Amino acid sequence: MNEFVFHNPTKLIFGKGQLQKLSKELMNYGKKVLVVYGGGSIKRNGLYDEVMTILKDNNMDVHELAGVEPNPRVSTARRGAAICKEKDIDFILAVGGGSVIDCVKLIASAAKYDGDAWDLVTRKAFAKGAIPFGTVLTLAATGSEMNAGSVITNEETEEKYGWGGPFNYPKFSILDPTYTISVPKDQTIYGIVDMMSHIFEQYFNNAKNTPVQDEMCEGVLRAIMDNGPKLLEDLENYDLRETILFAGTMGLNGFLQMGYQGDWATHDIEHAVSAVYDIPHAGGLAILFPHWMRHNVKVNPTRFAKLAVNVFGVAPEGKTEEEVAFEGIERLTSFWNSLGAPKTLADYNIDDTKLELMAEKATINGSLGHFSSLNKEDVLAILKASL
Ligand code: NZQ
Ligand code: ZN
Repeated sequence: MNEFVFHNPTKLIFGKGQLQKLSKELMNYGKKVLVVYGGGSIKRNGLYDEVMTILKDNNMDVHELAGVEPNPRVSTARRGAAICKEKDIDFILAVGGGSVIDCVKLIASAAKYDGDAWDLVTRKAFAKGAIPFGTVLTLAATGSEMNAGSVITNEETEEKYGWGGPFNYPKFSILDPTYTISVPKDQTIYGIVDMMSHIFEQYFNNAKNTPVQDEMCEGVLRAIMDNGPKLLEDLENYDLRETILFAGTMGLNGFLQMGYQGDWATHDIEHAVSAVYDIPHAGGLAILFPHWMRHNVKVNPTRFAKLAVNVFGVAPEGKTEEEVAFEGIERLTSFWNSLGAPKTLADYNIDDTKLELMAEKATINGSLGHFSSLNKEDVLAILKASL
């Protein structure tokens, strides 16, 4: 494996009834709190009232930013940063899914930056500080609750990029599976696809001697594949929600990625697709990932075959590594199809008119990926295969 330093400062507070710990956590910061949330799911499932009661009981001076979009927009982060500056906010609380958390990460840093928030996303400037923030997670998917990533869309320029940095870690994240029970079936499917994709992005690496990491990746994938379909049949099952919630966090909090560099090309391609068409992130991943895999089997058939055998249960006897690899990819496709994930770009009414534009956007900063290196033509081939 490669040399590495691992440091994840986010305090993870997990389990039933753990929202009550919010009071204690808030004592570490000032009184002026900005609560940020999305389009209203937290009002419908009662979480909003519970959070507000805790804040009022602690005599907090509460301000709100509502309406963070799925695929959060830089304009919303700008509004949040303006509130922080105007009201001299001490602490930001994100209550929602990955989009709300990602938006808060940008608000927190942009509030301490004199220029435009988009500069931080495009790396024209780097954050020198941020308002501390915490999260109450409501959707199992992105891992944003315990990582330093943030993905932001500029709706004017139709760009969507991930950015990160040391100030992007939440101080704490409260994860009570109870609040994920109201996540509808389609978003639950997307969450499962997203967390599996995160593990694939990490599993496909070129490091040597990573048996512990491989077993961890394969084990989390198997647990998701065992429990995900059961959850989709029983959306109110607490234990299944708990398993999937924990899997989502473990999928992208750095624990699986010690000692190697993941690939992440499929995420970059998907971000270009959803920048142009504003589709759900994991809907795009479900369509693109099997094609990224087919495009790359030749890079390291052994790696694909290992995944096929250990995770998708392919019997290798009498087959070449490539045959095993392709059978594994077919099983992944069937699995995602069986969950009800989208299959082709046409499912989102995306035709071939903007493939070139999306390939251009995806590779604007150069080639993609680390397991393999994809240029614009490679990306175009993957997009064409996904139509
Ligand atoms: O806006 P509200 O009303 O809250 O509704 C949301 C939204 O419509 C709803 N929802 C969330 N929790 C719910 C709920 N509905 C009912 N009950 C609940 N408990 O679900 C919808 C989707 O929410 P969103 O936050 O957009 O989903 P997700 O967590 O999948 O986040 C997607 C965003 O994260 C980015 C994606 O690109 C996308 O912009 N990603 C962030 C990453 C990171 N920071 O590390 C990595 C990921 O790969 C990903 O790129
Ligand atoms: Zn993702």
